[in-house]
Amino acid sequence: MKSTVAIYPGSFDPVTNGHLDLIARGARIFDRLVVAVLQNLDKAPLFSAAERAEMLREVTREWSNVEVDLFDGLLVDYVRRRNAHAILRGIRAISDYEYEFQMALMNRRLEPNVETVFMMPAEKYSYLSSRIVREVAQLGGSIEGLVPPLVVERLKSKVH
Ligand code: PNS
Repeated sequence: MKSTVAIYPGSFDPVTNGHLDLIARGARIFDRLVVAVLQNLDKAPLFSAAERAEMLREVTREWSNVEVDLFDGLLVDYVRRRNAHAILRGIRAISDYEYEFQMALMNRRLEPNVETVFMMPAEKYSYLSSRIVREVAQLGGSIEGLVPPLVVERLKSKVH
């Protein structure tokens, strides 16, 4: 029997409720969903790769077909190593489209057998991003309801 494995890659610095909404949608469609945390970011992350992965593991416990892993290097190399068939990405607004289009077509050029699948998170999360959550938290604003409670706590201890 064919089982479809998708990779959901990202920085997840930190995971937001928008990411979780997409994970829930992906876990319903794919047999297995691997949330792949990019280890080395261009900019210094607020949370280390291990911390980002650990928070993701905690908040995705309820899905038995969701796994959290770390990766580095080219995404398509990781996708091949994991014998996956698809890359899952979320699109919030038109502004995401250009970057996502560029990445999807470059990844297709590098590995024609892997398909990028786009899903839209719930519209209540359409303005949400890890960057804006970090900024609000660092400036002392409330991020309740935008990230899981565990992440609220971790952000508080990180910025104070
Ligand atoms: O959450 P992000 O920061 O939007 O995720 C971006 C990510 C991790 C998907 C992208 O930067 C990536 O795939 N990096 C790995 C390096 C790579 O394969 N680059 C070429 C992609 S076109």
